[in-house]
Amino acid sequence: MLQPPVEQVTMESKPQIIVATDARAAAKAAASEFVQSVRGVLNSNTTATIALSGGSTPRRMHRLLAQPPYKTAIDWGRVHLFWVDERLVPYSDTASNFGAACEDLIDPLQLDSSQVHPVPVAGKPAALARDYETALKRHFNPTGALMPAFDLLCLGAGTDGHTASLFPHDPALTEKRRWAIAVKGGNPAVDRITLSLPVINTARQVLFLVTGPTKSDVVKNVMTKLDAGLPAQRVRPKSGNLIWLLDRQAASGIQSEAAALRETIKI
Ligand code: 6PG
Repeated sequence: MLQPPVEQVTMESKPQIIVATDARAAAKAAASEFVQSVRGVLNSNTTATIALSGGSTPRRMHRLLAQPPYKTAIDWGRVHLFWVDERLVPYSDTASNFGAACEDLIDPLQLDSSQVHPVPVAGKPAALARDYETALKRHFNPTGALMPAFDLLCLGAGTDGHTASLFPHDPALTEKRRWAIAVKGGNPAVDRITLSLPVINTARQVLFLVTGPTKSDVVKNVMTKLDAGLPAQRVRPKSGNLIWLLDRQAASGIQSEAAALRETIKI
């Protein structure tokens, strides 16, 4: 599979950082990471369970995954999709993460409704969080899991350091037991459901995709101001691996550090 030119930087005891030339190359590299991860899971499991993020950044990756060579590289019928978070708006609303994923990925791939598990959005937030957690437990709990272990969990990061719908200083950040929680905030500032940090940190693989010049400060703060207490910094998978996939603009604030540790692999 053709891969865009990327620089792979492995930083000791820190996330693996991949810096692609631009947002388009980053989306291609993310689609390649997605395919590699899912194929690896399906080599030894019947199904792969993925949690997608919303916002604008992942949409290019989702559209790529719905086209060859990515589309034909995965046995999509064995993939289950959940969402890291969702805005409590109708799926037809342009702010809906599920609605965007349907347009970009689910409808083009003609995925069956039995393998797609959107966050319910019609009702009271607390009840919807419980309903989503019930759906997660129905999918994961045959193993009696204390926390669900997603095979791949895709994240973005906001300029304020939020990830999923876990916003700075929000009490939701301290949740230890529940799998899904109701919160309010973000842009749009609406009621949301988000996976809790313990769920995110139980994932076997976490892939951040962060691009564009507006994200350079937050990437620099996440990577270098370790006492900043940013939600995105709290993503430290217990045993899974963590990749931050950036473009050069988002990485501009850490290029010197990345350069010092670069293992450049020309692909
Ligand atoms: C959401 C997302 C959120 C997103 C960041 C970045 O539903 O809002 O899950 O966490 O990843 O806000 O959004 P952009 O990709 O649009 O910058």
